[in-house]
Amino acid sequence: MKILVTGGAGFIGSNFVHYIYRERPDWQITVLDALTYAGNKANLEGLDPQRVALVIGDICDEQLVDQLFADTDAVVHFAAESHNDNSLTNPRPFLDTNIIGTYTLLEAARKHNKRLHHISTDEVYGDLELDDPNKFNENTTYNPSSPYSSTKAGSDLLVRAWVRSFGVQATISNCSNNYGPYQHVEKFIPRQITEVLEGRKPKLYGSGENVRDWIHTEDHSSAVLTILEKGKIGETYMIGAEGEKNNKEVVEMILELMGKDKSDYEHVNDRPGHDLRYAIDATKIKSELGWQPKYTDFRSGLADTIKWYQDNEAWWKPQKAETEAKYQEIGR
Ligand code: NAD
Ligand code: DAU
Repeated sequence: MKILVTGGAGFIGSNFVHYIYRERPDWQITVLDALTYAGNKANLEGLDPQRVALVIGDICDEQLVDQLFADTDAVVHFAAESHNDNSLTNPRPFLDTNIIGTYTLLEAARKHNKRLHHISTDEVYGDLELDDPNKFNENTTYNPSSPYSSTKAGSDLLVRAWVRSFGVQATISNCSNNYGPYQHVEKFIPRQITEVLEGRKPKLYGSGENVRDWIHTEDHSSAVLTILEKGKIGETYMIGAEGEKNNKEVVEMILELMGKDKSDYEHVNDRPGHDLRYAIDATKIKSELGWQPKYTDFRSGLADTIKWYQDNEAWWKPQKAETEAKYQEIGR
């Protein structure tokens, strides 16, 4: 089996590459990644180059994508501009990569008749009230809030149209917030851990009551492999691990696990249009494909993640000052 992984040098994509490398030792993996600010070759260090090849390139490059599709059995598409705050400052790269990039892959999948799994997000459904008993499921209406989530929603709709109109063999998954190693320090959990490691206070947007449904990235990887191997073409699967926590609880847990006073954080300006709550109903993937998450103890997963950032300062330090300078400019 030959698999092409777009965005495989980013956070979730590289964790998926490591997962496949371990779980499917006879598979050949090609990573296509533009190595934007969010991609890092170091995320693939230690993997045998006989089994894992990195091609540095853009998913919007038709010729390159065409060549790579000709020489693979299946494609898992993680590549994206992924950060909401960046999409509020400069939406354009989100349109290019998330919409045109996905379109380019779909055209290649159509031409070469190749299996494609599209990685998407729960944010395409907008947000929920704190007391809403209904979680997001595969039939929830699309209602994205930010330039990021609207371009992800657009990319999902392209996938659905290419399945229906052209018979492309694609599936989609919409996953909740991931945490784990190799996550860029612009994102919530790594930002707070590294703020503490640098002797500053964690920064909570607004009141901190916003809820995210946390899943360990290993569980996301196992769900994606399950869909790739057992999913039904044309179907969408929600991925989540019942990990709802509000941001204040998460910051307090980080501080506590790092031996600090749990009130030692500061409130900063809220994100414009900030989604209030995400929550996933993952019944379909569990009942139809037999998938179950393994890393359901958030506190222990968070402790491991903190340890990873403590042990890998050389990995995150080069990104940190620039990231904080960007936050300073937007007052968050
Ligand atoms: P990330 O920003 O860490 O990584 C994105 C990767 O894509 C980087 O390696 C980057 O270099 C690459 N990339 C960007 N533009 C490219 C282009 N034009 N051509 C080729 N490569 C390009 O993102 P992530 O958090 O790992 O997210 C991966 C995917 O998972 C995204 O599609 C995202 O929407 C989705 N997702 C993320 C989460 C989350 O919690 N982070 C949750 C659900 C779904
Ligand atoms: O739900 C899935 C989505 O999760 C993915 O599609 C996105 O790619 C991923 O970035 C993530 O989006 P969020 O906007 O939820 O993640 P972020 O890490 O940016 O923020 C998580 C929450 O924490 C959110 O409510 C905003 C808040 N926050 C964030 C930062 C960076 C803070 O309170 N302080 C911060 O410093």
